[in-house]
Amino acid sequence: MRTELTWLGHACWQLRTAERTILIDPFLDESPTAPVRAADIEADVILVTHGHFDHIADAAPIAKRTGATVIANFEIAQWLTNVHGVTATVGMNLGGSYDLGGVRVTMVPAWHSSQLPDGSYGGNPGGFVLQLGDKRLYFAGDTALFSDMQLFARGGLDLAVLPIGDLFTMGIEDSIQAIRWLAPKQVAPSHYGTWPPIAVDAGQWAAAVRRETSAEPIVVEPGGKFLV
Ligand code: NI
Ligand code: MN
Repeated sequence: MRTELTWLGHACWQLRTAERTILIDPFLDESPTAPVRAADIEADVILVTHGHFDHIADAAPIAKRTGATVIANFEIAQWLTNVHGVTATVGMNLGGSYDLGGVRVTMVPAWHSSQLPDGSYGGNPGGFVLQLGDKRLYFAGDTALFSDMQLFARGGLDLAVLPIGDLFTMGIEDSIQAIRWLAPKQVAPSHYGTWPPIAVDAGQWAAAVRRETSAEPIVVEPGGKFLV
């Protein structure tokens, strides 16, 4: 099964398979680099890694318009229902998996924080490992480098999506160590270039990936697509 990935800027990704359109960390209308508006995006599943506005800002409006099911940690799922009236949610927690039918979603730890935009408690931040047919994809979410990350590579990874923007997450240097541990076939950078504080040179990152790891770096502009 082939999956088409589109980078929608910042940490927002859209995955299309024959059966599903999965949106990760929807942040479009207030993102300076998003190539589409929230009103124009399609999704039948929305994954949210943590509560920060640059990951959840458009989750409720898109879920309500499209009827998409939102999968997030229990606290965020509850907040989306109670505060925003999102009815289709799946609340989970670290280490748990949920079977979407053809897609298995596992929530894994991330080292970060997770306060919601209105100050509510947003539970623990996470990442997602997705089993899509015979492909395994790891979306790290916002995180520091941590050595347990290598456990998520058990069974092999076809793709890792890692933050590289530094300041709020790991930067280029730590992402290289993460890639060595994860040993994915392909790796794509995320959470960079949106604003000046997280501006990094993705070309420099890709060169370091090629020089120091065996993974293939995939760098696209916002709106750019590739296949896994
Ligand atoms: Ni964050
Ligand atoms: Mn963030």
